Amino acid sequence: MELMTKPTILTGVRSNEEPTLGNFLGAFVPMVEMQKKYAGEYQINMFVPDLHSFTTPIDHTTLYKNTLKNLKYFIAAGLDINHPDVFVYRQSYIPAHSELTWILDCFTYTGEMSRMTQFKEKSGEHSESVTMGLFNYPVLMAADILLYNAKYVPVGEDQFQHLEITRDIATRFNNKFGEIFTIPADTKTQTGFIERDKGLRIRSLTDPSKKMSKSSNDEKSKILLSDTPEQAVKKIMSATTDSIGEINFDFETQPGISSLLQILSLLTGRTQEEVNAEWVGKTQYGEFKRAVADAVGTFLTDFQARLASISDEQLIAILEHSERRMAETANATLLRAQQAVGLRPKVEG
Ligand code: TYM
Repeated sequence: MELMTKPTILTGVRSNEEPTLGNFLGAFVPMVEMQKKYAGEYQINMFVPDLHSFTTPIDHTTLYKNTLKNLKYFIAAGLDINHPDVFVYRQSYIPAHSELTWILDCFTYTGEMSRMTQFKEKSGEHSESVTMGLFNYPVLMAADILLYNAKYVPVGEDQFQHLEITRDIATRFNNKFGEIFTIPADTKTQTGFIERDKGLRIRSLTDPSKKMSKSSNDEKSKILLSDTPEQAVKKIMSATTDSIGEINFDFETQPGISSLLQILSLLTGRTQEEVNAEWVGKTQYGEFKRAVADAVGTFLTDFQARLASISDEQLIAILEHSERRMAETANATLLRAQQAVGLRPKVEG
């Protein structure tokens, strides 16, 4: 039985640490825009991959609380969780994610997994404790996507490789067993769908050659959604730029300045061209940073006020409803995969 008819747009944000402005702009904002534009026509799944949250060491005493907090962040970002096509849920509350992962594992090669850039980077940082979870992380992500027949998966640039591997695993499985999974769109189509010309990668404020990362130990490198506006303003004002002395939008030569121009455009709702027309060619980095800092401060003030108005009770009631519904869809896909590999009998007809 096919339980779902509308195509699905899906994304997840881990609850390993406080989300950053990079997560907000890379994943929350496109999802909220998608919901405003397409709910009714598409189903919108926004979930917390809590099982993905400890592939590298974390403080487990705060995981459960952080998971709920992340879900509140989706709502504060503007996701309308009362819309009948919007579903918010926790990965670990729907066991089909873990079960499909095992099946997919047996159709995924260690060679392709060991080529994943994020695995290589993170296993370098945590070389004393590289876990199977870190290695297997993209397969669980593939299960997250395939269980709900998701077509579009708005993510930042750092996750593109994982989307491509999801397509490879699903295509391989379908070639062997027939049309079991919906293949998500390729990354170029995905970025076109969310109306961006390429993947977003908000840069670290202290080393703009790297992405702003929530798991970085360098507090000054990231704006957290829980930072006070004053803390955030300070971080922007001391952000690393360059010694060129003129503002240009060029990630090759001026990644710090360019990332700030991008933040300014995304937070003020102005196009990149409009923002660039105002600032490119100017030489006062201090004045420019002040404008970015003001935009970040205003954003955090409004965002945190919305966050404070969401109660735990309201959230839990919605989660339970959503998780029941999503388990039905996930179990239907899991059953198709189990039947394909011979774990369950095929229903004739
Ligand atoms: P996570 O939790 O590390 O990041 C959540 C989202 O934020 C994006 N992002 C950024 N975008 C722009 N600039 C940045 N500096 C930046 N940093 C992070 C990420 O690309 C991501 O979209 N594996 C995923 C979570 C996940 C998932 C899924 C996503 C698990 N299953 C299924 C989509 C579909 C992750 O670790 O994201």
